[in-house]
Amino acid sequence: MTPKKRPTVYITRKLPDVVETRMRELFDAELNIDDTPRSEEELVATMQRVDVLVPTVTDRITAPMIEQAGPQLKLIASFSNGIDHVDVDAAARKGITVTNTPNVLTEDSADITMALVLAVPRRMIEGTRVLANGADEWLGWSPTWMLGRRISGKRIGIVGMGRIGTAVARRAKAFGLSIHYHNRKRVNPATEAELEATYWDSLDQMLARVDIVSVNCPSTPATYHLISARRLALMQPTSYIVNTARGDIIDEAAMIQCLREGKIAGAGLDVYENEPAVNPKLIKLAKEGKVVLLPHMGSATIEGRIEMGDKVIINIRTLFDGHRPPNRVLP
Ligand code: DGY
Repeated sequence: MTPKKRPTVYITRKLPDVVETRMRELFDAELNIDDTPRSEEELVATMQRVDVLVPTVTDRITAPMIEQAGPQLKLIASFSNGIDHVDVDAAARKGITVTNTPNVLTEDSADITMALVLAVPRRMIEGTRVLANGADEWLGWSPTWMLGRRISGKRIGIVGMGRIGTAVARRAKAFGLSIHYHNRKRVNPATEAELEATYWDSLDQMLARVDIVSVNCPSTPATYHLISARRLALMQPTSYIVNTARGDIIDEAAMIQCLREGKIAGAGLDVYENEPAVNPKLIKLAKEGKVVLLPHMGSATIEGRIEMGDKVIINIRTLFDGHRPPNRVLP
């Protein structure tokens, strides 16, 4: 009996060493040791010769690219939770399975969200900067210096109450915030009761009522600029917005305008509309202390990355063993 051929697997970015070692043991794996993002042409050429492509959020796998893939390409096993960078419809049309790595990033992403919920109103980064510039800038404690806004007792409005949104709600409740949420459908009554959460069918009404908005929904055509200029205008001038989901869910230019005009009090962002480019106006607002900016690091933990790798491996193995991979993404 001839041994089963190992699938050829192309991994577009550097992954943790333990994941790469395992990939090499199990597959005919081609790694990207220097970690430079691959061009569209390189990715298409790869899709014409390998069985599995392992892209991540920095690779846009578009319909025209998928249409040029060779018949041997069976699986796009994304090393990511979000799947907005892969045209899942085009892959389905071509009979290519798409998988992602859900669940393992939930707690890490919720932690970073909560860190921003705390850091922006309490001016933590501004405070750090004072000392980072040298202790001379700090004249000592004063009753009126570095005053932020209290977190406890305020209302948080979570846009998208999936796994991450729910994990954010649990943390926010522990910090004394009351939980409000908008979602396509209501969460189950037990979760709502546990969180003492108020469901808002109308996103507009919720935005007008809460003190902190946390964006936790996926990026899809339906959520593109969900937080539009019109909706931002509904928010209170004392309110804050936090986005750890995807940059294009908020109309970034409109948000910048609102921040500059004092129509909202501040923002905490981990994601941007044109990553890795960040609008210089946002950088300026960060220097003025109006926004806290993180470089898309919501899920950046060693544990999370290894678990993502485990999921990619399981998805590949399951498909090549002739079964449906556990994290198949349907169009
Ligand atoms: C994901 O996997 O979708 C994350 O945004 C990456 O950090």
